[in-house]
Amino acid sequence: MSSEPLLVANGLSYSYLERFPALEEVSLEVARGQRLALLGANGCGKSTLLKILAGLLFADRGSYLAFGEEVNAEKLEDEQFSAAFRSRVGFVFQNTDAQVFSPTVREEIAFGPLQLGLEPDEIETRISDVTAMLEIGDLIERAPYQLSAGQKKRVAIASVLAMNPELLLFDEPTAGLDPRSRHWLLELMIELGEAGKTIVFATHELDQLESIADRCLVLSEQHRSLGAGVPAEILADYELLLSANLVHEHTHRHGKLLHSHAHKRGHHHRDSGEHGFPSGV
Ligand SMILES: Nc1ncnc2c1ncn2[C@@H]1O[C@H](COP(=O)(O)OP(=O)(O)O)[C@@H](O)[C@H]1O
Ligand SMILES: [Mg+2]
Repeated sequence: MSSEPLLVANGLSYSYLERFPALEEVSLEVARGQRLALLGANGCGKSTLLKILAGLLFADRGSYLAFGEEVNAEKLEDEQFSAAFRSRVGFVFQNTDAQVFSPTVREEIAFGPLQLGLEPDEIETRISDVTAMLEIGDLIERAPYQLSAGQKKRVAIASVLAMNPELLLFDEPTAGLDPRSRHWLLELMIELGEAGKTIVFATHELDQLESIADRCLVLSEQHRSLGAGVPAEILADYELLLSANLVHEHTHRHGKLLHSHAHKRGHHHRDSGEHGFPSGV
C-alpha cells in the first residue's frame, strides 16, 4: 500500500457568495487510518472545510487531493470520477434532518447501497450488518419523524456506513445528543478508528479528544490554521486554546484575591466566588 497521505489539502480558501470569508489558506494532511479532529469556535470554518473535503464545496484557492487525485468542480463533473469519489467518502451532517429523508429507516439505509448498484443480497447483508452495529434493528420500519434525535443520528450514521466508505466525515457528531447517546457515539468513533477507517470530524469534545483523535487541527476565528498536533500537545497549549476561543479566561474572586484561570468550553462552574460571595474561603 502506498504511504502517501489519503488526503492532502494545500492553502484552501473559501468565501460564501465571494463576500463572507469562511476559510483562509488552510492546509492539512491525513494519513490512511488516521483520525483528525477539527477544533475551533463557532463560525471558524469547520463545516466549510468538511464540505470541501466531501466534494460538496470547492475552494476558491488552493488544492485538494484525495486518494491520490485532485478533486475539483471539473473533475466531479465526470460521472465516473464522481461515482468513485462519492462511494469512498461518507459525510454525517451535523443536522440529521437534512440527511435522513426516506420514508422508512430501511429505505434510508438501502439508499446508498442502491446508488452503488449493489446486488439485492448484498444490500440486505449491509442493512443487517449496520443495523446490528448501530443497534437500530427494532427501528427499521419507522419513519424519520418517529425517531428521537439520538436514534436519527444512529440512522444517519448507519446509512453512511452501509456504503462502506474509506473516509468518514462527521460534523459535530455528538452535538445535541443526551449523555447516553453521546457516550455511545464516542465509543463508536473509537471502534471505527480501530477498524482502520480514516475519520475527519469537527468537535468540541476536548475531554475525550485523546481517545477519539490521533491529530488535531485548530482553526482561528479568522478562519486560519492556528496549529496542528497530537491531542496531548494541543490540550497542553493554553495560549493556543485561548486564542482559538476553545477555553475562556475566567475571573474569580476568592476572598479579596482576584485570579483568572481557564475553563474548557462546556464546563459549567459552580464556584459561587464568581459572584463575589465565596463559599468556602
Ligand atoms: N451559507 C452561508 N452563507 C454565508 N456565510 C456562511 C454560510 N455558511 C457559513 N457561513 C460563514 O462562514 C464562516 C464559517 O462557517 P462554518 O464553516 O459553518 O463554521 P463552523 O462549522 O466552524 O461553525 C462563518 O463566518 C459563517 O457565518
Ligand atoms: Mg459547523
